[in-house]
Amino acid sequence: MTGALIELDAVSVVHRIRSSSLFGHDSVHALTEANLALEPGQTVGVVGESGCGKSTLAKVVVGLQQPTSGTVRYQGRPLDGMNRAERARDFGRDIGMIFQDPATALNRRLAIAKIIRDPLDVHAEGTPAERADRVRELMSLVGLPDSVADAVPSQLSGGQRQRVAIARALALRPSLLVADEPTSALDVSVRAQILNLLLDLRERLGLAMVFISHDIQTVRKMSDRIVTMYLGRVVEEAPAERLPAAARHPYTRALFSATPSLLETVEPIALSGPVPSATAPPSGCRFRTRCPKATADCAASLPPLAIADDSPGHTYRCIHPEIPHTTGAPA
Ligand SMILES: Nc1ncnc2c1ncn2[C@@H]1O[C@H](COP(=O)(O)OP(=O)(O)O)[C@@H](O)[C@H]1O
Ligand code: SF4
Ligand SMILES: [Mg+2]
Repeated sequence: MTGALIELDAVSVVHRIRSSSLFGHDSVHALTEANLALEPGQTVGVVGESGCGKSTLAKVVVGLQQPTSGTVRYQGRPLDGMNRAERARDFGRDIGMIFQDPATALNRRLAIAKIIRDPLDVHAEGTPAERADRVRELMSLVGLPDSVADAVPSQLSGGQRQRVAIARALALRPSLLVADEPTSALDVSVRAQILNLLLDLRERLGLAMVFISHDIQTVRKMSDRIVTMYLGRVVEEAPAERLPAAARHPYTRALFSATPSLLETVEPIALSGPVPSATAPPSGCRFRTRCPKATADCAASLPPLAIADDSPGHTYRCIHPEIPHTTGAPA
């Protein structure tokens, strides 16, 4: 796709780990042949249960994880064709990331102002006075009072710490913010505040965002497009407003079934048992061991990428897809 900020082209990440058998190795298929295009100003939500490869995808997008195979392009340029200086100057500073737990993501010994200033120091951005001004501006942008500038992270609440992490991620004015489960470690009472802050910042700064959560409701609220991942594979990609009604993949439907109020008349799909091991994923469709619609054909080969004809930009991998539920006034 042209004009994409970041593109993933058949990106796989395989980890080699020591196996339980003597001297052996196992391969963990954390991410398998992922294709994704991130447009400027757009939010892509990534959803799936724990262990489905969401964080691996996030780390590939920000350059923290090297793909085992496939290509990542930033503004059309392959990342592996850039030297270190180019990567840091062009790509690194254009992408910010926030993590699940701000308590561990922040250096506990440093004052808040210093934590936020760090990227400006590393990239030698402006004069010391300009950096101090920018830190004050960033603190106000994320709703932190001046009074916490000299505090250390342990003196702040979880919500305030996540605000510090957001300020630091935005210090170099990136075009893209990757947020990996940014509210999962926070008290329920402050989650909405942080989500609203992210929505507000996205509008004000024109940010593109990758928003990751295991909670499909949150992802739906935050995103323009939703990518459903299962066991390292992207199994469906759809415009957010088309879900859950037009979900084709049983796994997407199952994730929504955990919050039944949204489904209304749609038949819920229950998820039973855990996600299988990523060291030996099932053949064919990886969801088949938990899918109520699975047939022998589902084990034979990877379901081809299908296009939902009623919904532009909506693709899925399932050979027995759900029938879209027409929304609107009940009959
Ligand atoms: N460094 C690593 N070494 C071995 N396995 C890993 C590593 N990182 C992730 N994995 C495995 O890859 C799979 C996907 O992990 P992850 O991307 O963290 O999923 P999610 O964020 O959706 O929970 C999991 O099975 C996980 O255990
Ligand atoms: S391809 Fe088969 S196993 Fe996979 S989601 Fe579709 S029906 Fe279920
Ligand atoms: Mg994760």
